Amino acid sequence: MPALSPFVSTRYQSLFTHLESTPLRHWLDRMPDQINQAFNDRRHGDWPAWEQVLEQLPALAADQVHLDADCIGVSGSHCDQAALKSLLLQLHPWRKGPYHIHGLQIDTEWRSDWKWQRLAPHIGSLKRQRILDVGCGNGFHLWCMLGAGAELAIGVDPTLLSVVQFLAIKHFMGNWPAYLLPLGVEDIPAGLRAFDTVFSMGVLYHRRSPLDHLLELRNLLKPDGQLVLETLVVDGSAGYSLLPPDRYARMRNVWFIPTCLTLEAWLSRCGFKRIRCVDRTPTRTTEQRSTEWMRFESLAACLDPDNPQQTVEKLPAPVRAIFLAESP
Ligand SMILES: C[S@@+](CC[C@H](N)C(=O)[O-])C[C@H]1O[C@@H](n2cnc3c(N)ncnc32)[C@H](O)[C@@H]1O
Repeated sequence: MPALSPFVSTRYQSLFTHLESTPLRHWLDRMPDQINQAFNDRRHGDWPAWEQVLEQLPALAADQVHLDADCIGVSGSHCDQAALKSLLLQLHPWRKGPYHIHGLQIDTEWRSDWKWQRLAPHIGSLKRQRILDVGCGNGFHLWCMLGAGAELAIGVDPTLLSVVQFLAIKHFMGNWPAYLLPLGVEDIPAGLRAFDTVFSMGVLYHRRSPLDHLLELRNLLKPDGQLVLETLVVDGSAGYSLLPPDRYARMRNVWFIPTCLTLEAWLSRCGFKRIRCVDRTPTRTTEQRSTEWMRFESLAACLDPDNPQQTVEKLPAPVRAIFLAESP
């Protein structure tokens, strides 16, 4: 195995040490190398600028770390907020959040706290759990999981800018057991069966083969582990799912959007038990919108201006459901 870069060992060595005494140690034979390689291979032209942002983040003492979904962040130091803001804005676009860093509010495209508030009453305690969040974006929900008592929260997301944003937030939060690996779900050793809870939120409709994704998730969970699945759904009967002919809400990579009944059947065919839909909420332009921290077009520009019940492609406007299930 090639030597770990200082960038990786500084940020991930504590994870490797933690995993040695857990069932996740079986991943350790390849994880360090995977992370090392991903930070080399997935770099693009902006990497030097992002790395510089991370290097320039000020060291600020954290009197209080906030892990409640309605306020994820840190407080206690006076800092030059304008300077911090212009530094962190170099990591634009900030999609998931919001974060509160020593008085600076990072007002992201999504109100990710609202998603957490919809699911939190249903998932039970996460105390002492090891958790995986597949496609976790910049890791907003990893902090919520720690706030709910998790012992370890690991996220995977192949988008390097999201990982850099996470590392910037973690710089201020301190040494908590939350880690975001720059990997895809397919990079996790199949059949690990080691996580107490696995989250997959906003990922299923991006997968060309949704049943394979559900099987992948099942095989990462320990027996009787909990799946938290959040995805787009459409109205309709059992068996139906929408396959957009081309784009959906301007997104290129949307494949299957099932009805709730269809998704229940998919989960059941994949062996999940105790399947239940605990929430179904239309996505509003108050929850996903352009802000100073995400200056590109957002949901409003993806809806039909004459009929916001449908997208610009004349397909049903986004509605998201949260399903819980247990692995066999
Ligand atoms: C719609 S976002 C959802 C983010 C977050 N889970 C949430 O609910 O707010 C989907 C995420 O999945 C990530 N993703 C795409 N392909 C993936 C893969 N193969 N494995 C893991 N994550 C992936 C994307 O980079 C993106 O951050």
